[in-house]
Amino acid sequence: MNKFIKFFLFIFFLFNLVNSSYASNHYPITRDSKLNNERGKLLYNEYCASCHQVNLSGAKNWKGYDSDGHRKAPPLNGTGHTWHHPDQTLHQIIKYGLAKLVKNYKGKMIGFEKNLSDREIDYILGYIKSYWSDEYYNHQISMSIK
Ligand code: HEC
Repeated sequence: MNKFIKFFLFIFFLFNLVNSSYASNHYPITRDSKLNNERGKLLYNEYCASCHQVNLSGAKNWKGYDSDGHRKAPPLNGTGHTWHHPDQTLHQIIKYGLAKLVKNYKGKMIGFEKNLSDREIDYILGYIKSYWSDEYYNHQISMSIK
């Protein structure tokens, strides 16, 4: 094969490798990178804290309903059930909102597909996980390994 074609194919191969390793296999999402967690914190404060609170504690009496009949924002800090869901589910809830996952959903957890990239959603998840106990964190990581 021509040297140049070989070289081209090699670059193409590398490109795909980098691309696919991110696009389709970014789970499990860890909390290992302090830098990414900080990025997640900034994004969280901008897009999520208004409902889930700055300290991730959720709305007061989160198991109840708002005056308009919708469920309140649950805590994400490990005191609720967020850590029972694998990364794939959490990522989807944040990206598409519950409307895409629950038929006739009328609640307030809308998707952030237009505001956040997949990578940014992962930063936020890493930040959220930094609040969980080691036990919950490890359990959730083991669920998210495919
Ligand atoms: C307008 C208020 C609001 C905003 C803003 C909001 N959420 Fe939510 N979120 C909710 C509500 C309410 C629920 C509970 C869903 C339901 O039962 O209807 C929820 C549920 C969730 C869940 C599922 C939690 C669980 O324990 O099962 C996750 C994860 C989540 N939100 C993450 C986020 C993230 C990350 C952001 C920011 C990018 C965000 N939310 C922004 C209101 C909000």
